[in-house]
Amino acid sequence: MRHFPIFLDLVGRKALVLGEGEMAERKAQALAGAGATVTRLARFAPGDLAGMAIAIGAGAPEADLRALAEAAQGLGIPVNIVDRPALSSFIMPALVDRDPLTIAIASGGAAPVLARQIRARIEALIPPTYGRLAAFLGRAQRELRRRIPDLPRRRRLIERLLGGPVAALILAGREAEADRALAAELDADAPSPGMVFLVGAGPGAADLITLRAQRLLGEADVIVHDRLIGDDVLDLARRDAARIFVGKARAHHCLPQPEINALLIRLAREGKKVVRLKGGDPFVFGRGGEEAEALAEAGIACEIVPGVTAALACAAAAGIPLTHRDAARSVTLLTGHGKEGAIDLDFPTLVRLGGTLAIYMGITALPRLAAGFAAAGLAPETPAALIERGGTPAERRLFAPLAALATRAPAWSSGGPALLLIGPAIARAGRPDGDARVNLTNVIPRNHPISL
Ligand SMILES: C[S@@+](CC[C@H](N)C(=O)[O-])C[C@H]1O[C@@H](n2cnc3c(N)ncnc32)[C@H](O)[C@@H]1O
Repeated sequence: MRHFPIFLDLVGRKALVLGEGEMAERKAQALAGAGATVTRLARFAPGDLAGMAIAIGAGAPEADLRALAEAAQGLGIPVNIVDRPALSSFIMPALVDRDPLTIAIASGGAAPVLARQIRARIEALIPPTYGRLAAFLGRAQRELRRRIPDLPRRRRLIERLLGGPVAALILAGREAEADRALAAELDADAPSPGMVFLVGAGPGAADLITLRAQRLLGEADVIVHDRLIGDDVLDLARRDAARIFVGKARAHHCLPQPEINALLIRLAREGKKVVRLKGGDPFVFGRGGEEAEALAEAGIACEIVPGVTAALACAAAAGIPLTHRDAARSVTLLTGHGKEGAIDLDFPTLVRLGGTLAIYMGITALPRLAAGFAAAGLAPETPAALIERGGTPAERRLFAPLAALATRAPAWSSGGPALLLIGPAIARAGRPDGDARVNLTNVIPRNHPISL
């Protein structure tokens, strides 16, 4: 982070705006809007900075702007010369103003146009009435603190308020009714038990997470996560949320499953809002089913939030239609990692299905899988692909007929999570017409050349 973000209290303080023109006028108005007493000057003399809390320069002669910058920096007064980062000790962010809610967006000077575009999106997302809601909560703060001193409980109540009739009444401008609704909520509030959300984080890219998952990450007291969760996904969590890593790599279970179950139950019983974050979808080879059962047995409320599973993310990124009217009438999700390393698949049935097979955790067992399919009559030239870290910027792909893929995989693999896809639809990868013969050359590789 190039600039440290802060919000400055300027109420009743003095501010200097040096220069003339529209930009200087806008800065003066912004400072006055923040409660500052603004002095406007066309030229600069060093004594002008006496008592100033902040100074901004725009549209003044170069020598004056430089003199202002130098003098202010010497006195430790925050100074901004518009569009001159080298002369400035702070930059002005793009603002979404929902007073008292203020959202500031900055790109460290690298991409101001992008920052402005993001501001426009946030403007559209957050209606102007949200300011009213923030002001209401501000007024209610003292009473809420007095009635509910415990922070997690208070936070849960506020979340309930924001999702319920109190917020709806405020946004509709019916403040007296909102006051009555708030009083009723406070009288009814009892210590509520926590809850566990089994949340799918998708394949690893933060923008493939669902909106619901994103919201819950922002609300949770604790995030319990496993190995496949990247930092950019975890960064969506509240800053003060506790993060507990419980591991899970094949054959390297950091915390045994029964202990993970017990941890989730204990955290919920402490009244916490727990997000159990799992790569992909929690119910696809994620042991989410076992966790949900354990929570149900313990009487803990649980909600399942689906995620984009690896098969969908990898296929989409590689342009592989998992089903295709002419090439695959079914898609089967399988694991190549049976209990104690054994492979327990009904190869003849899978071959008879003739659709697309998406095999999770299949790379180590690939030679045994290929042999099993061959013995069951699957042609060795059946199209296949390995997609490593699919749906993330580090994605790699290897396309080859199944028998060749099995031979080449060990040297190709970099050890990241990889999905094995087998079936005629793999040959349709990236085909815009979806009709003619097998042609894998038109798939655009990301970081790795396509191999046929
Ligand atoms: C324990 S399973 C978890 C699957 C996860 N619940 C899901 O729905 O994607 C882990 C396996 O999923 C596959 N996998 C997960 N993320 C992947 C990714 N980004 N790219 C390729 N395969 C992935 C790999 O086969 C990995 O060994």
